[in-house]
Amino acid sequence: MRRAPPAGVKETWGGAAFPWRTPAVNPARQPEPFAALDHLATMVAVVQADGHCLFANAAFESVLGLSRRSVLRGLLYDWFVDPVAVADTVAAVARNDYSTSRFEGLLRRPGPGDPLPVHVIVNQLERGPTVVVEMVEIEQQTRQDREERLQDQVQANKELIRNLAHEIKNPLGGIRGAAQLLGMEVEGKALAEYTQVIIAEADRLQALVDRLLAPHRLPHRVGDVNIHEVCERVRALVVAEFPRGLVVQRDYDISIPEFRGDREQLIQAVLNVARNAAQALQASIAAGDARMTLRTRVARQVTIGKQRWRLALELQVEDNGPGIPRALRDRIFYPLVSGREGGSGLGLTLAQTFVQQHQGTVEFESEPGKTVFKIVIPLP
Ligand SMILES: Nc1ncnc2c1ncn2[C@@H]1O[C@H](COP(=O)(O)OP(=O)(O)O)[C@@H](O)[C@H]1O
Ligand SMILES: [Mg+2]
Repeated sequence: MRRAPPAGVKETWGGAAFPWRTPAVNPARQPEPFAALDHLATMVAVVQADGHCLFANAAFESVLGLSRRSVLRGLLYDWFVDPVAVADTVAAVARNDYSTSRFEGLLRRPGPGDPLPVHVIVNQLERGPTVVVEMVEIEQQTRQDREERLQDQVQANKELIRNLAHEIKNPLGGIRGAAQLLGMEVEGKALAEYTQVIIAEADRLQALVDRLLAPHRLPHRVGDVNIHEVCERVRALVVAEFPRGLVVQRDYDISIPEFRGDREQLIQAVLNVARNAAQALQASIAAGDARMTLRTRVARQVTIGKQRWRLALELQVEDNGPGIPRALRDRIFYPLVSGREGGSGLGLTLAQTFVQQHQGTVEFESEPGKTVFKIVIPLP
């Protein structure tokens, strides 16, 4: 028997018949029109004015750590530390007092653990007593903002460096040439030595400038890349450089498919990261307990900058060294930033550039005894 829809509910939604004609919702059946919301990284619930969930997307389900069936059985308000505020807002939006409303709330998760701070956005769904409630983890939001800022910063830095490098390079040839001519003219050994100093310093600057310009010059040679081949090459190089006292473990997920990319660039990127780890392990190498791990995993639904990818590979380089000095943490991807005596501060800048050319990113987590660099690259 067909019942009348609840008062004020339109009969159709996006062309499809309303699936919840009967007010008693069967929690086992998800209304089809919302299935697409499962692909969102933010938590979304479709809610009636009384707080009953008609739909909860996969992200919401997983944050709460409950099955969809249990989420749909309860009221949305149950999951908030301050249920009244949420109930009032949902009711106001459902009544059309406002078409949309935003506020900050605390999501209560079952089990131990602190409530999760979320930014809540309540929106009308068509005109009617149902609303869409979006919940964005505040931490996730700030992390994403920070990542976006970092990427902009990296881009601006690259341009600055390239321009600066060109400006230095141009007169450098002239200075060197003039010093050479001068060296042929001057009499006396001491004066000739001065010209030698000028030439040697000009050469040193030239080499630095060439290194700064290198990532912009290297041709991008695209082919099929097997990430484990990259790892093995890097492993061999690191072991050759640190033959004693360093254990390099492998933990590979061999199901990771090949992808299109520049193998040489990726080897260089991973090598820069792995070499840093080995250098950070100097003291442990001497003590005999230095350990590095190359690990590969598949990651799903990852956001890199502003883009979202269904599938990505995550290559982790872990070491049990002292960790990245706190003062350097915000800046290690910037060029010329180094915590090492004699370091160029270009290793991570280059690694980030090369990985970004594969639409990916390099990030890290670090504490004394455990530093993990993650190279994330989208897979087709
Ligand atoms: N795994 C690590 N553990 C500790 N510190 C690290 C690690 N990786 C990088 N760093 C720090 O980041 C700095 C920048 O690295 P990088 O850009 O490769 O430049 P460089 O190696 O020439 O100093 C290093 O000097 C070091 O202080
Ligand atoms: Mg380095």
